[in-house]
Amino acid sequence: MADHAILAGKRVLLVIAGGIAAYKSLELIRRLRERGVTVRAVLTEAGARFVTPLSVQALTEDTVYRDLWSLTDESEMGHIRLSREADLLVVAPATANLLARMAAGMADDLAATVLLATDKPVMVAPAMNVRMWQHAATQANMALLESRGVLRVGPNDGVMACNEYGPGRMAEPMEIVDAIAGFFAAEANRLQGPLAGRRAIVTSGPTHEPIDPVRYIANRSSGKQGHAIAAALAALGAEVTLVSGPTRLPDPAGCRVTHIETAREMLAACEAALPADIAVCAAAVADWRVDGASDRKLKKDGGGPPALALTENPDILATLSQPGERRPALVVGFAAETGDVLAYATAKRARKGCDWIVANDVSPGTGTFGGSDNTVHLIRADGVESWPTMPKDAVATRLAEAVAAFFAGK
Ligand code: CTP
Repeated sequence: MADHAILAGKRVLLVIAGGIAAYKSLELIRRLRERGVTVRAVLTEAGARFVTPLSVQALTEDTVYRDLWSLTDESEMGHIRLSREADLLVVAPATANLLARMAAGMADDLAATVLLATDKPVMVAPAMNVRMWQHAATQANMALLESRGVLRVGPNDGVMACNEYGPGRMAEPMEIVDAIAGFFAAEANRLQGPLAGRRAIVTSGPTHEPIDPVRYIANRSSGKQGHAIAAALAALGAEVTLVSGPTRLPDPAGCRVTHIETAREMLAACEAALPADIAVCAAAVADWRVDGASDRKLKKDGGGPPALALTENPDILATLSQPGERRPALVVGFAAETGDVLAYATAKRARKGCDWIVANDVSPGTGTFGGSDNTVHLIRADGVESWPTMPKDAVATRLAEAVAAFFAGK
């Protein structure tokens, strides 16, 4: 069980939507307040059919916020302020309907508007009939919300009010209290993590180099490894700027993300993020771009295929590695090779001037490009460490720990 002492003085905005589990939210308010949490509540119209505004008001000892339009009155607290004057927003019960409205970004009542306007973390405690929970629509909405960083507690398995059995019961109030305490503990850890106060730049994904307005040169990089490294450095407390080429991945939590397309844009974004203590270049930057890309679509005009003249892109890793005042204290590159991995990667480390190289074999059949696992060797000035095959997230965590150890030893 999480340590509840961390809850004292925290501010929670509790959104109570319309489900039979709403009665448990009254208990949740009491348990949070006992632990020193200030609870402010938003009750949806449907929520008010299950618990009375008076009960919520009595337990929170505060106004119960219900109507979007009354909040437009200057004398009332605006919905923006309401959503920002909290350390965490908790939706309990989170109904299928409210999850759908959150996923779609709707703002059709006070609860949805507050959830859309907030810049604070959000935790949901889903509660609904088992079939509604298992429906593809709800599952897709929940997955989308989680990919955006929404935290979830429950639902639990059990007998429901409708006499069906399965997942859909809202987590018990004390489980929600535990989850909230766990969230604040993780946040505190981030602030006190070994990389707190360090700035990091991470490049990730491919670059797209235009041929004309509709065509481009690209490569198969998924960005998974780079994004995972950004998240792992942030989890240890670093202030991370992720410079990402086009990927299908959501922005990792806790990072500032700059989206770019070309190598030249990636370099400019990295330079704008300086000064930094750490740079990790995990992007698969296109080595060449089309010299004089056309600003009009190339047409088949009977003259045969166009000859594309290529010119070399700037090398971002080599640029960041150049000695000077603005050079990050630790610059890490990647070497994706298809044979003689250690020899090529060691030579690459010297050629680019970086401190460490993470080398891997990307030959067809290894599944590295786009896959979830990676087998890497960490090449430093004092030798090579070969790591076992592991998920890209685990490679990222281990690399972030090595970065933290480097700074601890400085
Ligand atoms: N890199 C970079 N900018 C470039 C090319 C590469 O920052 N224009 C970085 C990559 O992010 C990676 C490292 O350099 O960290 C090695 O990339 P790789 O493509 O393996 O090396 P190349 O320089 O392209 O060498 P080669 O093509 O000879 O293998």
